[in-house]
Amino acid sequence: MNRNGAPDLRVFDELDALTLHAAEAAAAIIDECVQRQGGCALALSGGNTPRPLYALLASRFRDRIPWAQVHVFWGDERFVPATDANSNYRMATATLLDHVPCPTQNIHPMPTHAKSPEAAARDYEQTLRDYSGGDWPSLDLNILGLGADGHTASLFPGSPALDEQVGWVAAVQAPADPPSRLTLTLPALVRASHIHVLVTGTAKAQALRDVLSGTADPRIHPAAGLLAASGELIWWVDRDAAGLL
Ligand code: 6PG
Repeated sequence: MNRNGAPDLRVFDELDALTLHAAEAAAAIIDECVQRQGGCALALSGGNTPRPLYALLASRFRDRIPWAQVHVFWGDERFVPATDANSNYRMATATLLDHVPCPTQNIHPMPTHAKSPEAAARDYEQTLRDYSGGDWPSLDLNILGLGADGHTASLFPGSPALDEQVGWVAAVQAPADPPSRLTLTLPALVRASHIHVLVTGTAKAQALRDVLSGTADPRIHPAAGLLAASGELIWWVDRDAAGLL
């Protein structure tokens, strides 16, 4: 939010310009975190929108980021093998992590090999607790997307996980393919120091308008729950997605 309480909305005519500015901002945040606190906890989103951003972080901005001090987490994951085409971990590895010197021990995928989604959620919460050491995850930069139905991460409209106020990670059944998913909960997502939401395309225009209306119910438009963010919240939006604002 800006100081006047308005959403920090950054609209770009071209996807390339949006991606470049978002990558520049992400690289600066990561570097500042490492300089200030010796490390940076970066949470990645799945979907298609962040691919160009990840590709820029792995190329033009690769050498501006102290990857050895970066820890990589995920905001959500499909409960599929890491080799599955639907895996967010697989997408991030192919577009980013295979191309940067981030130590393997710093990469923390959601454990989709666990015996159940519920067990995976519990295990990942412990992973986050082991890293954060506090009452909530201490993510520094949380990169998220927006679905045409207003979902973010794998928090979909009407999901019981939207009522979770204590747990950090939930196993959910999503109205999407594949349905079985793991997701950070809203209280876990909103405590990141920086939340950057990438939204492109006309298909997202109504959802973005609803989410930013100021009156949206997160149980119906889950991404509206991000407006409770305690840190920086930036909406990186192209002209098409901003078309109804
Ligand atoms: C996922 C993402 C999801 C995504 C939105 C938008 O696991 O799919 O975390 O929340 O950000 O569905 O997806 P697109 O970027 O592909 O439009």
